Amino acid sequence: MSAPAEVPELVARALDLSRRRGFITSTRSETGRLLAALAASRTGTLAELGTGCGVGSAWLSSGAPKGAHIVTAELDPGLSKDVQGIFHDAENVEVTCGDWTVLEQYAPFSLLFVDVREVMASIDLLADLLEPGGIAVLDDFVPSPFWPPIVDGQVDTVREQWLTDERFAAVEMLIDPDASLIIATRR
Ligand SMILES: C[S@@+](CC[C@H](N)C(=O)[O-])C[C@H]1O[C@@H](n2cnc3c(N)ncnc32)[C@H](O)[C@@H]1O
Repeated sequence: MSAPAEVPELVARALDLSRRRGFITSTRSETGRLLAALAASRTGTLAELGTGCGVGSAWLSSGAPKGAHIVTAELDPGLSKDVQGIFHDAENVEVTCGDWTVLEQYAPFSLLFVDVREVMASIDLLADLLEPGGIAVLDDFVPSPFWPPIVDGQVDTVREQWLTDERFAAVEMLIDPDASLIIATRR
C-alpha cells in the first residue's frame, strides 16, 4: 500500500512515546489513516477505548472537523499521564485515566474506536453507546479465509457476531496481509 511517509505532528509525538516506552501494540499507520478519514466525516463526540501511547487518538484528532471532540480512556495511569503530557496543546482530545466505562458519560458517540480486545465481546453495551449512523471500528483481527472466521483452530465468535448483528451494517477490511479490522455502522 502506498502512503506519504510524513505523519501529522501529534501522531509523530505519539509514535515517539511508543518507541521510548517500547510499546509495541500502537495502531499502525494504515489503520490510523483510515481513522482520520472516518473522523473527517463525523461531528459531535468520538471515543477511543484503550489510549495506549495515543497513536489512534492522534490520528482521530488529525482528521476530525473543527468542533468535534475526542475522548479516550486508558487503564494504565502511567501511560495515561504520559499521553496527557504529549497532548497538552491538543484542544480536541481529552485523555481519561481509568476503565473504558468512564467514557459512558460522554455518549452517544459518532465514532467509537474499540482497541481493547476483551471489550469487543460487549456488543450490546457498545451498540448502545453509538448514535444512529455512528461508526464502530474494531482493530486487530487475524484475517481468515473461512466463514465463520477461524483463528487458532477455533471460531472467532466475536468477529462473527459483529459481522452478522442486525443493528449494524458491518464489513471486515484487510489492513495488511496479517491484519484486519471491522467497520460497523449503527443502523
Ligand atoms: C492495543 S493497546 C491500544 C493502542 C492505541 N489505541 C493506539 O491507537 O495506539 C490497548 C490499550 O488498552 C489498555 N486497556 C486494557 N484494558 C483496558 C480497559 N478496561 N479500559 C481502558 N483501557 C484498557 C491497555 O493498557 C493498552 O494500553
